[in-house]
Amino acid sequence: MTTASPILAGVVGWPIEHSLSPLIHTIWAERAGIAGYYIPFAIPPAYDDFARAMDGLIKLGFKGVNVTLPHKEHALRYAASSSDLAQTAQAANMLTFSAAGPVAENSDIEGFLSVLKENFGKAAPRSPALILGAGGASRGVAIALKQFGFSEIHIANRTRARADAMASEFGLTVVDWNRRNDALPTAGLVVNTTSLGMIGHPSLDLETENLKQETVVADIVYAPLETKLLAAARRRGCRTADGLSMLMHQAAPGFRAWFGSSAIVDDELRANLVIELARRSGK
Ligand code: ATR
Repeated sequence: MTTASPILAGVVGWPIEHSLSPLIHTIWAERAGIAGYYIPFAIPPAYDDFARAMDGLIKLGFKGVNVTLPHKEHALRYAASSSDLAQTAQAANMLTFSAAGPVAENSDIEGFLSVLKENFGKAAPRSPALILGAGGASRGVAIALKQFGFSEIHIANRTRARADAMASEFGLTVVDWNRRNDALPTAGLVVNTTSLGMIGHPSLDLETENLKQETVVADIVYAPLETKLLAAARRRGCRTADGLSMLMHQAAPGFRAWFGSSAIVDDELRANLVIELARRSGK
């Protein structure tokens, strides 16, 4: 008698215990009736530790892994080949262990593109997008906005030099951090990619009363689920997209690639994640 081995995949990062990815993939696997495990691995920050861990997972028959901080650049370096998006971002959050070698991809960008489609349909509005922040997450957002077709993208960051560097790399327009409110009345989309608004961090100060009601406001922060920024935007009548939307959508390409089944982002999945977040925050 032969028994099929369960499918193995996982997520690597340092730290990793906060990751919601195991829960997302487990729910999708259960829905599809697939025998499989998606395991979190804490891998220390050095490239050598990462590479050794990947060598081991390949030997164990893993299909692939999601990669989170601080290993997103390591994933690209380790890979035998990488997608155009991962190369442009200079970061990958997915490694698929194919017969031809590890393939690096960036589903953070695809995930944010899905959020844009959910909120705008097929076409970007003619009004500009405003990105707040110029760290790693901001790069993926900028690439997705360009890909989606925003013709004008503004960026504001506390450290001006980082905004200037991204502006010259991606063709963005810099707005001084202290003048960020000036960009609100014309914006069609505002995206917070900073850590402001996260539990334990100061909140992001924005004059949301100056937003148009048709403006979409997105926040990559998901703890708390509704940041002060999103709550204020909702009160203003704007559509909002929270960090959980992006998290669920970035997980889907990995599940499809490794478990070979559809990965539907819906209210039921969201409800399960909301319960888990509430459990963790002791509510
Ligand atoms: P990630 O890779 O997750 O985006 P990061 O590279 O550390 O993380 O970027 C964090 C972002 O939050 C940066 O844009 C940072 O601004 P700086 O470039 O000036 O550091 C922004 N940020 C963090 N704390 C902030 C604060 N108190 N006020 C304004 N921006 C802040």
